[in-house]
Amino acid sequence: MSLPKPAFSVAPMMDWTDRHCRYFHRRISGRALLYTEMIVSAAIRHGQRERLLGFDSSEHPLALQLGGSDPAELALAARVGEDFGYDEINLNCGCPSDRVQSGAFGACLMNDAPLVADCVRAMRDAVSVPVTVKHRIGLGRSEEYGFVRDFVGTVAAGGCSVFIVHARNAWLEGLSPKENRTVPPLRYEVVHRLAADFPGLSFWINGGLADHAAIAGNAAGLAGAMIGREAYENPWMLQSWCAEHENDCVKYDVQNRTDSWLQVELKESELQKPKQPAACP
Ligand SMILES: Cc1cc2nc3c(=O)[nH]c(=O)nc-3n(C[C@H](O)[C@H](O)[C@H](O)COP(=O)(O)O)c2cc1C
Repeated sequence: MSLPKPAFSVAPMMDWTDRHCRYFHRRISGRALLYTEMIVSAAIRHGQRERLLGFDSSEHPLALQLGGSDPAELALAARVGEDFGYDEINLNCGCPSDRVQSGAFGACLMNDAPLVADCVRAMRDAVSVPVTVKHRIGLGRSEEYGFVRDFVGTVAAGGCSVFIVHARNAWLEGLSPKENRTVPPLRYEVVHRLAADFPGLSFWINGGLADHAAIAGNAAGLAGAMIGREAYENPWMLQSWCAEHENDCVKYDVQNRTDSWLQVELKESELQKPKQPAACP
């Protein structure tokens, strides 16, 4: 499915962009590319796949975000994701949480670009849908452009051609994940510099884009814009974006479509209720 220009996506957000949230977002925007929460590759290998990966077919186009750093395990998780019907497999190289660092994935992978390239290569060999990478513009307080440029160059050599760039550094020490989404300064110009230096690759811009003017201005010349907190906290912003950019937007009657969804959910929860034991004689 082709995306409208400029393309628009809703960010992966742990505990937020579950299937219910995505279903709701899809009622509002017909075309925004939606992302799952990060799902750890080991969980897909060992866990309950339907519970982790199941989604409603109306959620397309839908990308599965994976967390992990073992190429073989990521390849397996990507293949399972493709079999479930995901349209894109994305690797998280931007999450700074301690838990993720102790598993040696997320943002700390930016310190090991050759490993990320191996992961991408293994996933690409395993699936036919696009494999993309979401990352930061640097680690710690260093603003050295060469670090992110070399990261992108190395990962691109592994076969990734689409990069989603959260335009802030990740500080791996001293900040909580929440602070890591506000304290390190936004530097959108780095994303544009990457796009100029790698004209054959696609770059999506992410971080702090909260209104149409900011989105249109900062995503100009790039592949698209990814919106996180604003899409969750003010989902109606998707509607006004969609009204402006999606020709078929008028088809989306949010009220009716959400009501029918609630009816289906209620019916299913009724069906899943344990049967009451027969009354005692
Ligand atoms: C509650 C929450 C959970 C998040 N979980 C993830 C995640 O699982 N994977 C990821 O790559 N980014 C995650 N992020 C970061 C967002 O994807 C995004 O990069 C960040 O919020 C900046 O975009 P924004 O300013 O538009 O919100 C999370 C953000 C929030 C607010």
